[in-house]
Amino acid sequence: ENELNIAVIGGDGIGPEVTAESLKVLRAALPAVNLTAREFNLGASHYLETGEILSDETIAELSGFDAIVLGAVGGDPADKRLAGGLVERGLLLKLRFAFDHAVNLRPTKLHPAVGSPLSAPGEIDFVVVREGTEGPYVGNGGVLKQGTPNEIANELSVNTAVGVERVVRKAFELAVERRGKLTLVHKKNVLVHAGALWQRITDQVAEEFPSVEVDYLHVDAATIFFVTDPSRFDVIVTDNLFGDILTDLAGAVGGGIGLAASANLNVDGSFPSMFEPVHGSAPDIAGTGKADPSAAILSVALLAEHLGHADAAARIRAAVDTEVTNRTEALSTAEIGDAVVALLGQN
Ligand code: NAD
Ligand code: IPM
Ligand code: MN
Repeated sequence: ENELNIAVIGGDGIGPEVTAESLKVLRAALPAVNLTAREFNLGASHYLETGEILSDETIAELSGFDAIVLGAVGGDPADKRLAGGLVERGLLLKLRFAFDHAVNLRPTKLHPAVGSPLSAPGEIDFVVVREGTEGPYVGNGGVLKQGTPNEIANELSVNTAVGVERVVRKAFELAVERRGKLTLVHKKNVLVHAGALWQRITDQVAEEFPSVEVDYLHVDAATIFFVTDPSRFDVIVTDNLFGDILTDLAGAVGGGIGLAASANLNVDGSFPSMFEPVHGSAPDIAGTGKADPSAAILSVALLAEHLGHADAAARIRAAVDTEVTNRTEALSTAEIGDAVVALLGQN
């Protein structure tokens, strides 16, 4: 209870800048906890220096921590040595798969003081429950007749009953705690095999949660409502790729990607869960102090909540809320972190 061992993978670009602030805030929010944070130097820069992406030894070491805090990984997209998201797949996705991060939780809440690009956003407060270990992310597929005019590139989306059920179940549990509404998002009019599985399992699990109102949207229509009527959403459950796309959009309509937090949850507790902002390494602003650490800070609030420190989580969220409300000028990454820490002290 009073010990917390956290592995920190700052990663690349603004990753280490924002995790430094989130760790500062987590320590301040848990003064009675003996918090040890161990840094792991991993990411695109580390790979370019050493040739190492993520060894089995490192995975084994990481598995012993209570949680992982990740900043962002990935280098300059123009760098040919990193082509094909080598580090994103070999590090970030590998960790999600190795630690069975079935549920990728991505909440969006528009704060009154923060502008949305929508002219009439209404009340935006929803959670995307994104499947984290399957879909087209698994790397199944291949290329035939490579380099010929008849080349065929296949990307296979894997959807297992077990994988779908655990994420759908989590979404229902969340809906019960929230406003009792669940929307399944898929593309079952075209992706008939996977779509039918998602719909059937949703219908089955729904029988155990009679108080939850369930509906369905095709993903293309869902993007319309994200912009025209986001207040209709409470809990959204969807597959890995749809969830990836929808949560960048969610970040944008919810006040900016600098506020979008996420948790990669291992649902049976056999491996550490991992907490990271939705955004990437932002090479365009790395080193300038312009990165907003709020998303990383809200991600450690999810960590605190997950590890049984719900009131620390609430205090972190309240402090971020107040900081965002009070912010009158552009602050640097560290100034925002310091302001949040100072506000925690006042609660
Ligand atoms: P990105 O999220 O890094 O950046 C998109 C835009 O949002 C940029 O203009 C950036 O400046 C801005 N932005 C992002 N975070 C911000 C913050 N905290 N404060 C202020 N502005 C912020 O997406 P990208 O440019 O597509 O990707 C850059 C690299 O990051 C790529 O290598 C990509 O593969 C990788 N990536 C990693 C992760 C991850 O590790 N979880 C997630 C997404 C992208
Ligand atoms: C995210 C990112 C990752 C994803 C990439 C970097 C592999 O975009 O966490 O949203 O697609 O899941
Ligand atoms: Mn993404």
